[in-house]
Amino acid sequence: MKIINTITELKAALKFSQKKVGFVPTMGALHEGHLSLIKQARENNELVVVSIFVNPTQFLAHEDLGTYPKKEQSDIKICALAKVDYLFMPDITTMYEKDEILLKAPKIKGFILEGEKRPGHFDGMLQIVLKLFNIVKPTNAYFGKKDAQQLSLITQMVKNFYLDINIIECEIVRENDGLAMSSRNVYLSKEEREKALAISRSLKLAAKSIGMGELNVLNLTNKIKNILNEHQEIQIEYIKIVTKDFQLIDTIEIKNSIILIAVKLGNTRLIDNIWI
Ligand code: PAJ
Repeated sequence: MKIINTITELKAALKFSQKKVGFVPTMGALHEGHLSLIKQARENNELVVVSIFVNPTQFLAHEDLGTYPKKEQSDIKICALAKVDYLFMPDITTMYEKDEILLKAPKIKGFILEGEKRPGHFDGMLQIVLKLFNIVKPTNAYFGKKDAQQLSLITQMVKNFYLDINIIECEIVRENDGLAMSSRNVYLSKEEREKALAISRSLKLAAKSIGMGELNVLNLTNKIKNILNEHQEIQIEYIKIVTKDFQLIDTIEIKNSIILIAVKLGNTRLIDNIWI
């Protein structure tokens, strides 16, 4: 595996390659969720590129940019063991100049749920992903369903800007007890981590209710709310049910719905979802 820090070097490494390139963009502090994306990229491409860049433009002023977990050495080991070809680790000045042309998330889809709670987040996320796509020019790019709205917006960006890239949707990887893996889980105290299990439990229960015929979004949302409210430490930011294209719905559409939850537990913000 080659570690690359500059755009020129990465472009040069990929330039004359006619090979199928699989790309996994990340912000590091890699865990099994990231690894599952890398493994899929490895299985289905000739070259695998992983990027690690904690992208400042997608963090809001009050968010955790300054404390975002860093595990550079273990990240490098994980990527090397997974047989990544190029690990791209640029610094901020490599990726940005001062006064740049900006991207805007779509007015409706980009400003509900995460977009409403984190205004501006998706603009910065799309900006960095477009930059990375243009540098790597991947055949296939891998994204987790964990960040469902991000995945949907990236798919739309590829469509709206006619990019020749296949977006591969990857399943959510969970801890054995159900907690969705996230780099931010390290922020949780032991007690908070225990309480956080209510999130995946409530999603599973909602899926079970749907299996038994409950298709009413309001009823399902209330069931989830009741479970989350068992712990007063859990502050619900939203419980929403949308189609895969992020249209809000009143009735579940089987095979085309996502239930999404965002909560705060202490200072930690957690998101999770289930695809129905
Ligand atoms: P990051 O949070 O590091 O996630 C990188 C990729 O890993 C994303 O596609 C995310 O959905 C996926 N991922 C995270 N946890 C997962 C899990 N438990 N199961 C499956 N996939 C999981 O998402 C970002 O970084 C950034 O916004 C980025 C796209 C890199 C742009 O800066």
